[in-house]
Amino acid sequence: MAAGSADKGRLAYVKHGCWQCHGFVGQGGVTGPKLAPNPMPPEALSAFVRNAAGAMPPYQKAILSDEDLADIHAYLQSLPKAPDYKSIPLLNP
Ligand code: HEC
Repeated sequence: MAAGSADKGRLAYVKHGCWQCHGFVGQGGVTGPKLAPNPMPPEALSAFVRNAAGAMPPYQKAILSDEDLADIHAYLQSLPKAPDYKSIPLLNP
């Protein structure tokens, strides 16, 4: 899978409704697990999304192109990690 664009990926993530179950920044929700930060590798993401057989609907190529999927991966990859609590003064009196 070619490297994608995080900007386009954010739009694809919204357009394809991933946010409905996984949250707008992949933080996870009531329905879906957290996807970011540190998303699975592109190949694993693609294999999962194309073949989802549980509570998540599978997305075929006709609906979600390989390019959109690569962009979605780039978007998830671009999301920042939560800061280490040791770097937050208020939590370290
Ligand atoms: C209707 C709700 C729903 C939507 C929409 C949805 N998902 Fe999911 N997703 C789930 C659920 C529930 C699981 C966990 C179920 C499972 O493991 O079979 C999951 C699991 C995943 C996983 C595996 C996470 C892990 O760590 O095992 C990935 C990756 C994923 N979704 C990506 C996406 C992407 C990308 C989209 C948009 C194209 C999307 N999902 C849209 C509900 C959804």
